[in-house]
Parts: sequence; structure tokens; C-alpha cells
Amino acid sequence: MLGYVAGDRNRFAQQLFTPLPQRYDRLAEVLSMGQNGRWRRAMIDHIVPQSEGRVLDVASGTAGVALQLTERTTSTVVGVDLTLEMLAQGRRNIADARQERRVQLVAGRAEQLPFPDQSFDALTFTYLLRYVDDPLATLGELARVVKPGASVASLEFLAPPNPFWRFMWWLYTRLVLPVGGAITGGREWFRVGRFLGPNISSHYRRYPLAWTEEAWRQAGFENVGVRIMSLGGGLVMWGTRRDD
Ligand SMILES: C[S@@+](CC[C@H](N)C(=O)[O-])C[C@H]1O[C@@H](n2cnc3c(N)ncnc32)[C@H](O)[C@@H]1O
Repeated sequence: MLGYVAGDRNRFAQQLFTPLPQRYDRLAEVLSMGQNGRWRRAMIDHIVPQSEGRVLDVASGTAGVALQLTERTTSTVVGVDLTLEMLAQGRRNIADARQERRVQLVAGRAEQLPFPDQSFDALTFTYLLRYVDDPLATLGELARVVKPGASVASLEFLAPPNPFWRFMWWLYTRLVLPVGGAITGGREWFRVGRFLGPNISSHYRRYPLAWTEEAWRQAGFENVGVRIMSLGGGLVMWGTRRDD
């Protein structure tokens, strides 16, 4: 574990993700019913036009986003994550894809990134804001490390706005995810399956989508856009770093 990790949420995220890396890539697809890959591509679509330079991928985990960035751009990529075991699997995935020269993985926290101001040309982050104490401050920290004009894009889960799909989503996250997690991945994935639905619901009760859009603007981004994916199960957001 990272020696300097501060706060209960960081520790909770590390404990949640530490046992997952071996099966993470396969089960993330299975348990999202094949949607994770589609959402990821939709997020990276917003980075592709800014194809050169250095991209930072925050909450990089097993480097799935970082590797897709190398396939679809000519950039070099730095991935940062606080769970060392996820990064270790990421390094294996990078070696398998023979992309060691283009992707570097670094241990660190999104709340306190180990990089100077304005050091990246673009930035992605995935499934991050539910794991930080102060999403607005974290967005500000992401804004700090990118250059003015840089494209930034994110992917998160969402709870469907439509009541019918929200009820179906509720059944899926409260019943299918824990049971499916246990069957496919054992005790650790049961824990994740049981945690995810209530965590997503409580996050958006506290930080609704409109709040999140405004937080991007306050943190220093403009041209903020939102795309609700798969009837509301996923959320892709993007924006451009303002020249303050
Ligand atoms: C659901 S995984 C996503 C991994 C990868 N981005 C993907 O899409 O496959 C979330 C990742 O966020 C990382 N994480 C959670 N809180 C973090 C923080 N405060 N700073 C950096 N990484 C964090 C976890 O360690 C985990 O690897």
C-alpha cells in the first residue's frame, strides 16, 4: 500500500481493489453486460482529436484506458492509481501489449497528483469521483496538471433518471450484481457487487448530475458536455481546460 495514503476513503478504495486485479478486466466486462468497453470508447472519442503529446489517465487501474489511448492516439500515456496491485496487473497488461515505451504507471492519489502544474496535454479519469472525499477539490487538482486548452474526459456509473429504468437498474445492482459477482469471482466480487449499487445511489443523492457539471466548470473546465449511456447506467463527461 502507498505509505502516504491519507483518509478513510483512500484506504477503503485500496482494500476494495487490492484483491481484484487478476479477474478485473474480464469481470468488469461481464458484470457491466459488455457496456464498459463501449463507454470507454465513447470517453476516449473526446481525447482522440487531441492526439499528440502526453495524456494522464487517473485511476488507471489495470491500464485498460491507457492501452486504448495508445491504440487510438500517437500520445504517450502516464497512468496513476493508488492501488499497487491494480498497477502491477496494469504493468503485465502493458507488457503483453508491448507498449512499455508508451505507457508509464505511477502510484499516486488523484487528490494530490505527483506532477507539476500544466504538465499534460489531455487527461482521462474513470470511476474516480465516488472514491474521493471532495469531488470539487479533486476536479481542481486534475485541472491543475493539464495545459490550457487540454481535453479532459471521464467515465462514471450513473443511476438512470427514468423511473422505470431506474427500478430495473435497482434490481440489477441490488440482486444480479452481488449474486453474479459471487458466482463469477467469489467473496471479493460479492463484496464489490453488494457495494456498487448503494454507493452509486448515495453518491448521486449527494452530488446530482447538475452539481457535477457545475463542479467541472468551477474547477476550471469549459465547453463541458455530458452523454448519458445505456439508458442511464453510464455517464461520459468531457470539457476543455480554461485558460484562467
Ligand atoms: C473501477 S477501477 C477503474 C480502473 C480503470 N480506470 C478502468 O476503467 O478499468 C477504479 C480505480 O480507481 C482507483 N482509485 C480509487 N480512488 C483513487 C484515488 N483517490 N486516486 C487514485 N486512484 C484511485 C482504484 O485503485 C481503482 O484502481
